[in-house]
Amino acid sequence: MKIKFTFLAVLISVGLFAQNSLLIPSTLSGTSINLTLQNGTYQFYSGTNTTTMGANGNVLGPTLILNKGDFVNFSVNNQIGQTTTIHWHGMHVSPENDGGPHTTIAPNTTWTPSFTIMDKAGTYWYHPHLHTKTNEHVSKGIAGFIIVNDAEEAALTLPRTYGVDDFPLVVQTKDFDASKQIVVPSNSDDVIMVNATIDAALQTPAQVVRFRVLNGSSMRVFNIGLNNNKTFYQIASDGGLLSSSAALTRLQLAPGERADILIDFSGMTGQTVFLKSYASEFSNGIYGATTPGMGPGFTLTGYNPNPLNGTDFNIMQFNVTTQTASPVTSIPTTLATVTPILESTSNITRTLLMSPVDSGPNQLNGDFVINSVAFDLNVINYTIPLGNTEIWSISNNSAIAHPFHIHDVQFFILDRDGVAPAPSEQGRKDVILIKPQETIRFITKFDDFSSDVVPYMYHCHMLFHEDRGMMGQFKVVNTALGVADEVLGNKVSIYPNPTDGKIYINTQSDVTINKVEVFDMLGRSLKTIKNVKKDQAIDLQSFSMGIHFIKMYSNKGIVVKKIVVNH
Ligand code: C2O
Ligand code: CU
Repeated sequence: MKIKFTFLAVLISVGLFAQNSLLIPSTLSGTSINLTLQNGTYQFYSGTNTTTMGANGNVLGPTLILNKGDFVNFSVNNQIGQTTTIHWHGMHVSPENDGGPHTTIAPNTTWTPSFTIMDKAGTYWYHPHLHTKTNEHVSKGIAGFIIVNDAEEAALTLPRTYGVDDFPLVVQTKDFDASKQIVVPSNSDDVIMVNATIDAALQTPAQVVRFRVLNGSSMRVFNIGLNNNKTFYQIASDGGLLSSSAALTRLQLAPGERADILIDFSGMTGQTVFLKSYASEFSNGIYGATTPGMGPGFTLTGYNPNPLNGTDFNIMQFNVTTQTASPVTSIPTTLATVTPILESTSNITRTLLMSPVDSGPNQLNGDFVINSVAFDLNVINYTIPLGNTEIWSISNNSAIAHPFHIHDVQFFILDRDGVAPAPSEQGRKDVILIKPQETIRFITKFDDFSSDVVPYMYHCHMLFHEDRGMMGQFKVVNTALGVADEVLGNKVSIYPNPTDGKIYINTQSDVTINKVEVFDMLGRSLKTIKNVKKDQAIDLQSFSMGIHFIKMYSNKGIVVKKIVVNH
Protein backbone atom coordinates (compact mmCIF):
# COMPACT_ATOMS: atom_id res chain seq x y z
CA MET A 1 0.00 0.00 0.00
CA LYS A 2 2.76 2.41 0.98
CA ILE A 3 4.77 1.62 -2.17
CA LYS A 4 1.77 2.28 -4.37
CA PHE A 5 1.15 5.62 -2.71
CA THR A 6 4.77 6.73 -3.20
CA PHE A 7 4.67 5.72 -6.84
CA LEU A 8 1.50 7.72 -7.37
CA ALA A 9 3.00 10.72 -5.57
CA VAL A 10 6.01 10.61 -7.87
CA LEU A 11 3.81 10.48 -10.95
CA ILE A 12 1.81 13.47 -9.76
CA SER A 13 4.83 15.50 -8.75
CA VAL A 14 6.57 15.09 -12.09
CA GLY A 15 3.48 15.55 -14.20
CA LEU A 16 4.17 12.30 -16.02
CA PHE A 17 7.36 13.78 -17.44
CA ALA A 18 10.14 11.27 -18.11
CA GLN A 19 13.03 12.18 -15.91
CA ASN A 20 16.56 11.12 -15.14
CA SER A 21 18.31 12.14 -12.02
CA LEU A 22 20.83 14.87 -12.64
CA LEU A 23 24.45 13.77 -12.79
CA ILE A 24 26.55 15.71 -10.28
CA PRO A 25 30.20 15.74 -11.40
CA SER A 26 32.67 14.43 -8.83
CA THR A 27 35.16 16.90 -7.36
CA LEU A 28 38.90 17.33 -7.13
CA SER A 29 40.41 19.83 -4.74
CA GLY A 30 43.70 20.74 -3.14
CA THR A 31 46.92 21.84 -4.81
CA SER A 32 47.59 18.82 -6.98
CA ILE A 33 45.07 18.16 -9.75
CA ASN A 34 45.36 15.19 -12.10
CA LEU A 35 43.21 14.95 -15.19
CA THR A 36 43.22 12.19 -17.76
CA LEU A 37 41.49 12.92 -21.04
CA GLN A 38 39.95 9.77 -22.43
CA ASN A 39 37.61 8.27 -24.96
CA GLY A 40 34.58 6.46 -23.65
CA THR A 41 30.97 5.56 -24.09
CA TYR A 42 28.03 7.00 -22.26
CA GLN A 43 24.35 6.15 -22.21
CA PHE A 44 22.59 9.47 -22.80
CA TYR A 45 19.74 7.18 -23.89
CA SER A 46 19.39 4.17 -21.65
CA GLY A 47 20.52 1.00 -23.36
CA THR A 48 22.37 2.79 -26.17
CA ASN A 49 26.07 3.53 -26.10
CA THR A 50 27.21 6.87 -27.46
CA THR A 51 30.89 7.42 -28.21
CA THR A 52 32.16 10.21 -25.98
CA MET A 53 35.21 11.95 -24.58
CA GLY A 54 35.70 12.94 -20.95
CA ALA A 55 38.18 13.86 -18.27
CA ASN A 56 38.65 11.16 -15.59
CA GLY A 57 35.52 9.46 -16.89
CA ASN A 58 33.36 8.90 -19.93
CA VAL A 59 31.80 12.32 -20.16
CA LEU A 60 32.44 15.85 -18.80
CA GLY A 61 35.12 16.13 -16.12
CA PRO A 62 35.42 16.52 -12.37
CA THR A 63 34.64 19.88 -10.79
CA LEU A 64 37.90 21.45 -9.60
CA ILE A 65 37.49 23.25 -6.29
CA LEU A 66 40.38 25.69 -5.84
CA ASN A 67 41.26 28.38 -3.33
CA LYS A 68 42.38 31.84 -4.32
CA GLY A 69 46.04 32.27 -3.44
CA ASP A 70 46.91 28.57 -3.65
CA PHE A 71 49.73 27.48 -5.94
CA VAL A 72 48.31 24.49 -7.83
CA ASN A 73 50.15 21.82 -9.83
CA PHE A 74 48.13 20.33 -12.66
CA SER A 75 48.80 17.29 -14.73
CA VAL A 76 46.77 16.69 -17.87
CA ASN A 77 47.36 13.31 -19.48
CA ASN A 78 46.05 12.92 -23.02
CA GLN A 79 44.62 9.49 -23.83
CA ILE A 80 42.14 10.49 -26.57
CA GLY A 81 44.43 9.33 -29.38
CA GLN A 82 44.72 12.76 -30.95
CA THR A 83 46.30 16.08 -30.07
CA THR A 84 44.27 18.48 -27.94
CA THR A 85 44.73 21.22 -25.33
CA ILE A 86 43.06 22.20 -22.07
CA HIS A 87 42.17 25.85 -21.50
CA TRP A 88 41.19 27.25 -18.08
CA HIS A 89 38.40 29.49 -19.32
CA GLY A 90 38.15 32.79 -17.45
CA MET A 91 41.22 32.35 -15.31
CA HIS A 92 44.05 34.85 -15.12
CA VAL A 93 47.14 32.75 -15.83
CA SER A 94 50.32 33.17 -17.89
CA PRO A 95 50.12 32.43 -21.62
CA GLU A 96 52.19 29.27 -21.15
CA ASN A 97 49.65 27.98 -18.60
CA ASP A 98 46.55 29.14 -20.49
CA GLY A 99 46.15 26.05 -22.65
CA GLY A 100 45.36 27.86 -25.90
CA PRO A 101 45.88 26.35 -29.36
CA HIS A 102 49.67 26.72 -29.22
CA THR A 103 50.03 24.70 -26.02
CA THR A 104 49.27 21.32 -27.50
CA ILE A 105 49.22 18.01 -25.66
CA ALA A 106 50.25 15.20 -28.01
CA PRO A 107 48.59 11.77 -27.58
CA ASN A 108 50.01 9.76 -24.68
CA THR A 109 51.79 12.77 -23.22
CA THR A 110 51.19 14.81 -20.09
CA TRP A 111 51.04 18.59 -19.78
CA THR A 112 51.99 19.96 -16.36
CA PRO A 113 51.08 23.60 -15.89
CA SER A 114 51.29 25.12 -12.43
CA PHE A 115 50.08 28.49 -11.28
CA THR A 116 48.73 30.56 -8.44
CA ILE A 117 44.97 31.00 -8.37
CA MET A 118 44.60 34.77 -8.71
CA ASP A 119 40.93 35.09 -9.57
CA LYS A 120 38.07 36.07 -7.33
CA ALA A 121 35.67 33.42 -6.05
CA GLY A 122 33.50 32.35 -8.94
CA THR A 123 32.58 29.74 -11.49
CA TYR A 124 35.08 29.12 -14.25
CA TRP A 125 35.51 26.11 -16.54
CA TYR A 126 37.96 24.08 -18.55
CA HIS A 127 37.70 22.67 -22.04
CA PRO A 128 39.84 21.70 -25.06
CA HIS A 129 41.01 24.47 -27.38
CA LEU A 130 42.88 22.92 -30.31
CA HIS A 131 42.36 25.05 -33.41
CA THR A 132 39.70 23.49 -35.72
CA LYS A 133 38.99 20.75 -33.14
CA THR A 134 37.48 22.67 -30.23
CA ASN A 135 33.89 21.98 -31.24
CA GLU A 136 34.48 18.26 -31.68
CA HIS A 137 36.35 17.77 -28.41
CA VAL A 138 33.90 19.85 -26.38
CA SER A 139 30.77 18.47 -28.03
CA LYS A 140 31.92 14.90 -27.55
CA GLY A 141 32.07 15.64 -23.85
CA ILE A 142 35.22 17.25 -22.48
CA ALA A 143 34.22 20.16 -20.23
CA GLY A 144 34.44 20.66 -16.49
CA PHE A 145 33.72 23.27 -13.86
CA ILE A 146 36.27 25.18 -11.80
CA ILE A 147 34.93 26.65 -8.57
CA VAL A 148 37.23 29.21 -6.96
CA ASN A 149 36.69 30.03 -3.30
CA ASP A 150 38.00 33.09 -1.47
CA ALA A 151 37.64 34.79 1.92
CA GLU A 152 35.32 37.51 0.65
CA GLU A 153 32.81 34.95 -0.65
CA ALA A 154 33.20 32.75 2.43
CA ALA A 155 32.15 35.63 4.70
CA LEU A 156 28.73 35.87 3.05
CA THR A 157 25.69 33.82 4.02
CA LEU A 158 25.41 31.90 0.77
CA PRO A 159 24.72 28.25 -0.01
CA ARG A 160 28.08 26.61 -0.73
CA THR A 161 27.81 22.91 0.09
CA TYR A 162 28.53 21.17 -3.20
CA GLY A 163 25.82 18.76 -4.26
CA VAL A 164 23.60 19.74 -1.31
CA ASP A 165 22.63 23.39 -1.73
CA ASP A 166 25.19 24.39 -4.38
CA PHE A 167 24.96 22.69 -7.78
CA PRO A 168 26.85 23.15 -11.03
CA LEU A 169 24.60 23.01 -14.11
CA VAL A 170 26.26 22.84 -17.51
CA VAL A 171 23.49 23.32 -20.05
CA GLN A 172 24.20 21.96 -23.52
CA THR A 173 22.36 21.10 -26.68
CA LYS A 174 23.65 18.42 -28.98
CA ASP A 175 22.64 16.70 -32.18
CA PHE A 176 22.38 12.89 -32.19
CA ASP A 177 22.13 10.84 -35.37
CA ALA A 178 19.81 7.83 -35.80
CA SER A 179 22.26 5.54 -34.01
CA LYS A 180 22.54 8.07 -31.16
CA GLN A 181 26.01 9.27 -31.99
CA ILE A 182 26.95 12.94 -31.51
CA VAL A 183 27.08 14.94 -34.74
CA VAL A 184 29.65 17.77 -34.92
CA PRO A 185 29.25 20.39 -36.26
CA SER A 186 25.49 20.71 -36.50
CA ASN A 187 22.68 23.23 -36.44
CA SER A 188 20.24 20.44 -35.58
CA ASP A 189 21.13 20.52 -31.89
CA ASP A 190 17.67 19.52 -30.72
CA VAL A 191 18.61 17.50 -27.62
CA ILE A 192 18.95 19.46 -24.42
CA MET A 193 20.92 18.14 -21.50
CA VAL A 194 22.20 19.35 -18.14
CA ASN A 195 25.37 17.74 -16.79
CA ALA A 196 25.11 15.21 -19.63
CA THR A 197 21.62 14.24 -18.41
CA ILE A 198 18.65 14.40 -20.78
CA ASP A 199 15.31 15.24 -19.09
CA ALA A 200 17.22 15.96 -15.91
CA ALA A 201 15.54 16.20 -12.53
CA LEU A 202 17.10 17.21 -9.24
CA GLN A 203 15.79 16.94 -5.72
CA THR A 204 16.33 20.32 -4.13
CA PRO A 205 15.82 21.20 -0.46
CA ALA A 206 13.09 23.69 0.48
CA GLN A 207 15.43 26.63 1.04
CA VAL A 208 17.71 28.97 -0.89
CA VAL A 209 19.75 26.92 -3.34
CA ARG A 210 22.64 28.08 -5.50
CA PHE A 211 23.08 26.98 -9.12
CA ARG A 212 26.25 27.70 -11.06
CA VAL A 213 24.86 27.78 -14.58
CA LEU A 214 27.26 27.42 -17.51
CA ASN A 215 26.20 27.55 -21.12
CA GLY A 216 28.47 24.82 -22.50
CA SER A 217 26.71 24.61 -25.87
CA SER A 218 28.49 24.95 -29.18
CA MET A 219 26.13 27.51 -30.59
CA ARG A 220 22.87 27.98 -28.66
CA VAL A 221 21.97 30.98 -26.50
CA PHE A 222 19.51 30.41 -23.61
CA ASN A 223 16.98 32.80 -22.12
CA ILE A 224 16.90 31.32 -18.63
CA GLY A 225 13.74 31.60 -16.54
CA LEU A 226 11.55 29.60 -14.17
CA ASN A 227 8.01 28.48 -14.86
CA ASN A 228 5.28 30.89 -13.72
CA ASN A 229 7.92 33.61 -14.06
CA LYS A 230 9.10 32.93 -10.55
CA THR A 231 11.81 35.37 -9.49
CA PHE A 232 15.37 34.19 -9.05
CA TYR A 233 18.48 36.08 -8.04
CA GLN A 234 21.73 36.41 -9.92
CA ILE A 235 24.69 36.72 -7.56
CA ALA A 236 27.64 36.20 -9.89
CA SER A 237 28.65 36.68 -13.52
CA ASP A 238 31.57 35.09 -15.39
CA GLY A 239 34.34 36.35 -13.11
CA GLY A 240 32.67 36.15 -9.70
CA LEU A 241 30.19 37.87 -7.41
CA LEU A 242 28.20 40.94 -8.40
CA SER A 243 28.17 43.88 -5.98
CA SER A 244 24.57 43.08 -5.06
CA SER A 245 22.11 40.38 -5.95
CA ALA A 246 19.90 41.08 -8.96
CA ALA A 247 16.26 39.92 -8.89
CA LEU A 248 15.43 38.54 -12.33
CA THR A 249 12.82 36.58 -14.23
CA ARG A 250 15.02 36.17 -17.33
CA LEU A 251 18.75 35.76 -17.83
CA GLN A 252 20.35 35.54 -21.24
CA LEU A 253 23.28 33.12 -21.28
CA ALA A 254 25.42 32.74 -24.41
CA PRO A 255 27.97 29.97 -25.05
CA GLY A 256 30.84 30.23 -22.55
CA GLU A 257 28.98 32.52 -20.13
CA ARG A 258 28.34 31.62 -16.50
CA ALA A 259 25.96 32.94 -13.87
CA ASP A 260 25.49 31.90 -10.26
CA ILE A 261 21.82 32.14 -9.39
CA LEU A 262 19.85 31.60 -6.18
CA ILE A 263 16.37 30.10 -6.19
CA ASP A 264 14.31 30.28 -3.02
CA PHE A 265 12.39 26.98 -2.66
CA SER A 266 11.30 27.79 0.93
CA GLY A 267 7.87 26.39 1.78
CA MET A 268 7.63 24.52 -1.52
CA THR A 269 8.19 20.94 -0.36
CA GLY A 270 6.44 18.57 -2.77
CA GLN A 271 6.31 21.08 -5.61
CA THR A 272 8.09 21.00 -8.94
CA VAL A 273 9.82 23.98 -10.53
CA PHE A 274 11.04 23.98 -14.13
CA LEU A 275 14.15 25.71 -15.35
CA LYS A 276 13.27 26.89 -18.83
CA SER A 277 14.60 28.76 -21.81
CA TYR A 278 12.11 31.34 -23.03
CA ALA A 279 13.60 31.34 -26.50
CA SER A 280 10.36 32.64 -28.06
CA GLU A 281 11.24 36.01 -26.54
CA PHE A 282 14.57 36.30 -28.34
CA SER A 283 14.85 38.89 -31.03
CA ASN A 284 15.84 37.45 -34.39
CA GLY A 285 19.56 37.23 -35.01
CA ILE A 286 20.27 35.19 -31.87
CA TYR A 287 20.98 31.46 -32.25
CA GLY A 288 17.86 30.06 -30.57
CA ALA A 289 15.38 32.65 -31.86
CA THR A 290 12.75 31.86 -34.48
CA THR A 291 15.08 33.20 -37.18
CA PRO A 292 18.84 32.88 -36.73
CA GLY A 293 19.60 35.97 -38.82
CA MET A 294 18.42 39.47 -38.08
CA GLY A 295 15.97 39.35 -40.97
CA PRO A 296 13.81 36.65 -42.59
CA GLY A 297 16.13 36.50 -45.62
CA PHE A 298 18.93 34.78 -43.74
CA THR A 299 18.76 31.02 -43.46
CA LEU A 300 20.90 28.47 -41.71
CA THR A 301 20.93 24.85 -42.84
CA GLY A 302 19.24 22.56 -40.36
CA TYR A 303 17.98 25.42 -38.19
CA ASN A 304 14.34 25.72 -39.10
CA PRO A 305 13.12 22.17 -38.43
CA ASN A 306 14.82 22.27 -35.01
CA PRO A 307 11.94 22.40 -32.51
CA LEU A 308 14.00 24.26 -29.89
CA ASN A 309 14.25 27.40 -32.00
CA GLY A 310 11.84 30.18 -31.17
CA THR A 311 9.94 28.14 -28.59
CA ASP A 312 9.92 28.00 -24.80
CA PHE A 313 11.23 24.69 -23.51
CA ASN A 314 12.14 22.99 -20.26
CA ILE A 315 15.83 22.66 -19.48
CA MET A 316 15.36 20.58 -16.33
CA GLN A 317 13.16 20.24 -13.29
CA PHE A 318 13.59 20.69 -9.56
CA ASN A 319 11.58 18.47 -7.24
CA VAL A 320 11.48 20.23 -3.89
CA THR A 321 12.07 18.06 -0.83
CA THR A 322 12.58 18.83 2.86
CA GLN A 323 15.06 21.34 4.23
CA THR A 324 18.60 20.46 5.20
CA ALA A 325 19.77 20.84 8.81
CA SER A 326 21.32 24.28 8.32
CA PRO A 327 19.53 25.95 5.44
CA VAL A 328 20.16 29.38 3.99
CA THR A 329 16.71 30.94 3.97
CA SER A 330 17.19 34.48 2.76
CA ILE A 331 18.76 36.17 -0.23
CA PRO A 332 21.68 38.41 0.73
CA THR A 333 21.49 41.88 -0.78
CA THR A 334 25.08 43.10 -0.63
CA LEU A 335 27.68 40.77 -2.07
CA ALA A 336 31.27 41.57 -3.06
CA THR A 337 33.32 44.66 -3.68
CA VAL A 338 33.41 45.10 -7.43
CA THR A 339 35.88 47.75 -8.57
CA PRO A 340 35.23 48.65 -12.19
CA ILE A 341 38.14 50.11 -14.16
CA LEU A 342 37.67 53.81 -14.87
CA GLU A 343 37.37 54.77 -18.51
CA SER A 344 39.75 57.68 -17.89
CA THR A 345 42.59 55.28 -17.10
CA SER A 346 42.72 53.64 -20.52
CA ASN A 347 45.85 53.96 -22.68
CA ILE A 348 44.28 53.04 -25.98
CA THR A 349 41.02 52.07 -27.69
CA ARG A 350 41.17 49.14 -30.09
CA THR A 351 38.42 48.73 -32.65
CA LEU A 352 37.31 45.25 -33.70
CA LEU A 353 34.76 44.36 -36.34
CA MET A 354 33.04 41.00 -36.63
CA SER A 355 31.76 40.36 -40.12
CA PRO A 356 30.73 37.54 -42.44
CA VAL A 357 33.10 36.43 -45.19
CA ASP A 358 30.17 36.39 -47.62
CA SER A 359 27.82 39.21 -46.70
CA GLY A 360 24.82 37.85 -48.60
CA PRO A 361 21.71 36.00 -47.37
CA ASN A 362 23.67 32.73 -47.11
CA GLN A 363 26.21 34.25 -44.69
CA LEU A 364 25.06 32.29 -41.62
CA ASN A 365 26.31 29.01 -43.06
CA GLY A 366 29.72 30.40 -43.78
CA ASP A 367 32.68 31.76 -41.99
CA PHE A 368 33.03 34.92 -39.96
CA VAL A 369 36.15 36.96 -39.44
CA ILE A 370 37.41 39.62 -37.07
CA ASN A 371 38.85 42.76 -38.69
CA SER A 372 38.52 41.05 -42.09
CA VAL A 373 41.08 38.32 -41.37
CA ALA A 374 40.67 34.68 -40.46
CA PHE A 375 42.70 33.21 -37.63
CA ASP A 376 46.28 32.33 -38.53
CA LEU A 377 48.36 30.51 -35.94
CA ASN A 378 51.42 32.34 -37.27
CA VAL A 379 50.06 35.88 -37.16
CA ILE A 380 49.93 37.98 -33.99
CA ASN A 381 47.02 40.37 -34.37
CA TYR A 382 47.84 42.65 -31.44
CA THR A 383 50.89 43.30 -29.32
CA ILE A 384 49.86 44.77 -26.00
CA PRO A 385 52.28 46.42 -23.57
CA LEU A 386 52.16 44.76 -20.16
CA GLY A 387 50.25 46.95 -17.75
CA ASN A 388 48.13 48.56 -20.47
CA THR A 389 44.57 49.49 -19.62
CA GLU A 390 42.59 49.21 -22.82
CA ILE A 391 39.14 49.80 -24.20
CA TRP A 392 38.05 47.33 -26.84
CA SER A 393 35.22 48.57 -28.99
CA ILE A 394 33.70 45.63 -30.83
CA SER A 395 31.08 45.93 -33.54
CA ASN A 396 29.04 43.21 -35.15
CA ASN A 397 28.46 43.74 -38.84
CA SER A 398 26.95 40.29 -39.42
CA ALA A 399 23.36 39.06 -39.26
CA ILE A 400 23.81 36.85 -36.15
CA ALA A 401 24.84 37.57 -32.55
CA HIS A 402 28.33 36.37 -31.54
CA PRO A 403 29.60 35.77 -27.98
CA PHE A 404 33.02 37.45 -27.84
CA HIS A 405 35.54 35.92 -25.42
CA ILE A 406 39.03 37.04 -24.48
CA HIS A 407 41.70 35.08 -22.60
CA ASP A 408 43.97 36.36 -19.80
CA VAL A 409 41.65 39.03 -18.43
CA GLN A 410 38.25 39.74 -16.99
CA PHE A 411 36.68 42.91 -18.36
CA PHE A 412 34.02 45.44 -17.44
CA ILE A 413 31.38 46.46 -19.97
CA LEU A 414 31.33 50.22 -20.49
CA ASP A 415 28.33 50.32 -22.78
CA ARG A 416 26.20 48.61 -25.42
CA ASP A 417 25.50 51.05 -28.23
CA GLY A 418 26.27 53.82 -25.77
CA VAL A 419 23.94 52.52 -23.04
CA ALA A 420 25.33 51.43 -19.67
CA PRO A 421 24.97 47.68 -19.00
CA ALA A 422 22.21 46.02 -16.94
CA PRO A 423 23.19 44.73 -13.45
CA SER A 424 23.85 41.23 -14.88
CA GLU A 425 26.63 42.69 -17.00
CA GLN A 426 28.14 45.09 -14.47
CA GLY A 427 30.43 42.52 -12.85
CA ARG A 428 33.59 40.83 -14.08
CA LYS A 429 33.01 39.27 -17.50
CA ASP A 430 34.98 37.24 -20.00
CA VAL A 431 32.25 36.56 -22.60
CA ILE A 432 29.79 39.07 -24.01
CA LEU A 433 27.07 38.47 -26.59
CA ILE A 434 27.15 41.11 -29.31
CA LYS A 435 23.98 41.36 -31.37
CA PRO A 436 23.81 42.18 -35.07
CA GLN A 437 24.67 45.83 -35.75
CA GLU A 438 25.58 46.35 -32.08
CA THR A 439 28.76 47.93 -30.72
CA ILE A 440 29.92 47.12 -27.23
CA ARG A 441 32.86 48.66 -25.41
CA PHE A 442 34.67 47.00 -22.53
CA ILE A 443 37.66 48.03 -20.48
CA THR A 444 40.33 45.74 -19.08
CA LYS A 445 43.88 45.74 -17.79
CA PHE A 446 46.60 43.43 -19.13
CA ASP A 447 48.49 42.86 -15.93
CA ASP A 448 50.94 40.36 -14.44
CA PHE A 449 51.74 38.10 -17.40
CA SER A 450 53.74 38.69 -20.55
CA SER A 451 55.49 36.50 -23.07
CA ASP A 452 57.37 37.17 -26.28
CA VAL A 453 56.56 33.64 -27.35
CA VAL A 454 53.05 32.47 -26.46
CA PRO A 455 49.99 34.56 -27.35
CA TYR A 456 46.52 34.65 -25.83
CA MET A 457 43.32 34.22 -27.86
CA TYR A 458 40.17 36.24 -28.40
CA HIS A 459 37.35 34.68 -30.37
CA CYS A 460 33.70 33.97 -30.91
CA HIS A 461 32.61 31.28 -28.43
CA MET A 462 30.23 29.71 -30.94
CA LEU A 463 32.56 26.81 -31.49
CA PHE A 464 31.78 26.33 -35.17
CA HIS A 465 32.66 29.97 -35.82
CA GLU A 466 35.80 29.75 -33.69
CA ASP A 467 37.02 26.60 -35.42
CA ARG A 468 36.42 28.21 -38.80
CA GLY A 469 38.63 31.18 -38.02
CA MET A 470 36.62 33.71 -36.00
CA MET A 471 39.56 34.14 -33.65
CA GLY A 472 42.62 36.30 -33.21
CA GLN A 473 45.61 36.35 -30.90
CA PHE A 474 47.57 38.88 -28.93
CA LYS A 475 50.86 38.92 -27.15
CA VAL A 476 51.30 40.83 -23.95
CA VAL A 477 54.86 42.08 -23.89
CA ASN A 478 56.94 43.67 -21.21
CA THR A 479 57.60 46.99 -22.91
CA ALA A 480 60.78 47.52 -20.97
CA LEU A 481 62.20 44.63 -22.96
CA GLY A 482 59.86 43.91 -25.80
CA VAL A 483 58.12 45.56 -28.69
CA ALA A 484 54.94 47.54 -28.19
CA ASP A 485 51.91 48.11 -30.37
CA GLU A 486 52.88 47.63 -34.00
CA VAL A 487 50.52 50.23 -35.43
CA LEU A 488 52.12 52.84 -33.23
CA GLY A 489 55.49 51.17 -33.79
CA ASN A 490 55.18 51.82 -37.51
CA LYS A 491 54.65 55.51 -36.89
CA VAL A 492 57.80 55.95 -34.88
CA SER A 493 61.36 55.20 -35.88
CA ILE A 494 64.77 55.85 -34.38
CA TYR A 495 67.95 56.32 -36.36
CA PRO A 496 70.73 55.60 -36.90
CA ASN A 497 70.59 51.99 -35.70
CA PRO A 498 73.19 50.78 -34.79
CA THR A 499 74.46 54.03 -33.37
CA ASP A 500 77.84 55.13 -32.07
CA GLY A 501 76.31 57.83 -29.89
CA LYS A 502 73.46 60.13 -30.76
CA ILE A 503 70.06 58.93 -31.93
CA TYR A 504 67.09 60.83 -33.34
CA ILE A 505 63.38 60.03 -33.17
CA ASN A 506 61.26 60.38 -36.27
CA THR A 507 57.46 60.30 -35.90
CA GLN A 508 54.47 60.68 -38.16
CA SER A 509 52.72 64.00 -37.68
CA ASP A 510 49.95 62.68 -35.40
CA VAL A 511 52.37 61.28 -32.83
CA THR A 512 54.10 63.47 -30.25
CA ILE A 513 56.73 62.00 -27.93
CA ASN A 514 56.74 63.54 -24.46
CA LYS A 515 59.22 61.43 -22.57
CA VAL A 516 61.96 58.94 -23.40
CA GLU A 517 63.36 56.28 -21.11
CA VAL A 518 66.45 54.19 -21.91
CA PHE A 519 66.71 50.59 -20.61
CA ASP A 520 69.47 48.03 -20.69
CA MET A 521 69.02 44.39 -21.69
CA LEU A 522 67.91 43.44 -18.19
CA GLY A 523 65.14 46.01 -18.21
CA ARG A 524 66.94 48.41 -15.87
CA SER A 525 66.06 52.03 -16.45
CA LEU A 526 69.28 53.99 -17.22
CA LYS A 527 68.07 57.44 -18.11
CA THR A 528 64.84 59.41 -18.42
CA ILE A 529 64.52 62.47 -20.62
CA LYS A 530 61.41 64.59 -20.12
CA ASN A 531 60.03 67.33 -22.37
CA VAL A 532 61.60 65.83 -25.47
CA LYS A 533 61.54 68.34 -28.33
CA LYS A 534 61.15 67.63 -32.00
CA ASP A 535 64.46 66.63 -33.60
CA GLN A 536 66.20 66.52 -30.23
CA ALA A 537 69.17 64.14 -30.18
CA ILE A 538 69.31 61.49 -27.45
CA ASP A 539 72.88 60.85 -26.41
CA LEU A 540 73.75 57.21 -25.70
CA GLN A 541 77.52 57.78 -25.68
CA SER A 542 77.89 57.07 -21.99
CA PHE A 543 76.21 53.66 -22.18
CA SER A 544 77.99 50.38 -22.64
CA MET A 545 78.04 48.63 -25.99
CA GLY A 546 75.19 46.29 -26.85
CA ILE A 547 71.41 46.21 -27.02
CA HIS A 548 69.36 48.93 -25.36
CA PHE A 549 65.66 49.69 -25.37
CA ILE A 550 64.24 53.13 -26.01
CA LYS A 551 60.79 53.46 -24.44
CA MET A 552 58.89 56.43 -25.82
CA TYR A 553 55.79 57.86 -24.14
CA SER A 554 53.58 59.50 -26.74
CA ASN A 555 50.12 61.02 -27.04
CA LYS A 556 49.11 57.71 -28.70
CA GLY A 557 50.53 55.36 -26.11
CA ILE A 558 53.85 53.77 -25.36
CA VAL A 559 56.22 52.45 -27.97
CA VAL A 560 59.52 50.65 -27.45
CA LYS A 561 62.38 50.25 -29.93
CA LYS A 562 65.48 48.19 -29.71
CA ILE A 563 68.80 49.86 -30.52
CA VAL A 564 72.35 48.62 -30.75
CA VAL A 565 75.01 50.87 -29.25
CA ASN A 566 78.28 50.33 -31.08
CA HIS A 567 81.03 52.79 -30.23
CU1 C2O B 1 36.19 29.00 -23.51
CU2 C2O B 1 39.09 30.53 -25.80
O1 C2O B 1 37.60 29.68 -24.69
CU1 CU C 1 30.28 33.68 -33.90
